[in-house]
Amino acid sequence: MNDFDYIKPGEVYLDGSCQSLRPRQVINAISDYYEKHNSCGERVKYEWGRITDEKVEATREKVLKFLGLKSRNFTVSFTLNTTYGINLLLNQLDPKYFDKVMTSEIEHNSPFLATIAFSKKNNLPRIVMKRNDDGSIPLEEYDFKKAVVVVNCASNFDGRKLGNINELIKKVHKESGIVIIDAAQAMAHSSDVLYKTDADAICFSAHKLYAPSLGVIVWKNELLEKLQDYFLGGGMVDDVDKESYMLSADNSEHRYTRFESGLQAWGEIIGLGAALDWLEGLKKKDKENLKKNAEDLYEFLKSSPKVHLINNEPNPTMSFYVEGIDSHLLGEALSRENIMARTGYFCAHYYLDHVCKYPPLIRFSLGYQTKPEDIEKVKNALAKVIK
Ligand SMILES: Cc1ncc(COP(=O)(O)O)c(C=O)c1O
Repeated sequence: MNDFDYIKPGEVYLDGSCQSLRPRQVINAISDYYEKHNSCGERVKYEWGRITDEKVEATREKVLKFLGLKSRNFTVSFTLNTTYGINLLLNQLDPKYFDKVMTSEIEHNSPFLATIAFSKKNNLPRIVMKRNDDGSIPLEEYDFKKAVVVVNCASNFDGRKLGNINELIKKVHKESGIVIIDAAQAMAHSSDVLYKTDADAICFSAHKLYAPSLGVIVWKNELLEKLQDYFLGGGMVDDVDKESYMLSADNSEHRYTRFESGLQAWGEIIGLGAALDWLEGLKKKDKENLKKNAEDLYEFLKSSPKVHLINNEPNPTMSFYVEGIDSHLLGEALSRENIMARTGYFCAHYYLDHVCKYPPLIRFSLGYQTKPEDIEKVKNALAKVIK
């Protein structure tokens, strides 16, 4: 694939779990916005603004289509990133509807810390659930009565998925709770786990989906009843009096404004639309290549004697450490060979450091730009270091 034509020969980018590389089509879509119709969305009457509105609206529709969801049930709002989305939601949930907040041990700090804050602010207990090795939650061990459950559906260190997501959602709904899914790591390569989901909200970062830096909250329309107004500003109201206001979100056509205070990142939103088109246009061969590259690297790591691999199965995201070698130094050694990988605990400190007591790790996260020769290069570089 040459949609990443800016990668120089020999450069191997393996940090897509943090930020995907953006295909040329996405970069062009953003440039087009700045060069051809730079304008504020939803407010202006001139032609540039009309084009922006059309493309922003189309992006909302593409997000729903990507997830197999319908606008009569779900709304798409844009924000800064996954972290911001989760915090915006939790900070505005009316606590009178809930008895507790629940998260899981393998979470990124984004939901992990936000649920601590929610628990403290509302004086509600917080439960940290276990996850099985395959990523599922042992549902029978927990009481979900009136719970706000905030969990990922794919981990950021080994990609393990929440395989029983539908059972979880059903069980929580039966007990009058809600489920907020952190889909930051699922959207690019594991979105199947979310297809036609019945979760109450899904937060993700477009920058991990081959798109520009942007956050997205896909939320159930009925969640509106459980929200308090705590984060308000321009673009959210139809009328304002001295001490009162009329929220635009009360009109179903503008429901998305509920989380969109102030001017939005119009160019980035349009870039997300281009990324979703690009993903839809990928060939079977592109997906097979990614799978094969991940399997190849996984098998190599699994069979290397000093390598402790965290993954139980191949995934484009994989983490490990090498016995006797500091991961940060290893990361620097790889960098000298133009291989870009992440080291540390990847903001999953609680699980990786405190539960598993691993030393700092190294993470490879592959993407559609990864070529078989990149994998060969990584294997050779690692073999040299390990020896
Ligand atoms: C599983 C998971 N959740 C949340 C986040 C936070 O994403 P952001 O920094 O874009 O808010 C990340 C980032 O790596 C992640 O991997």
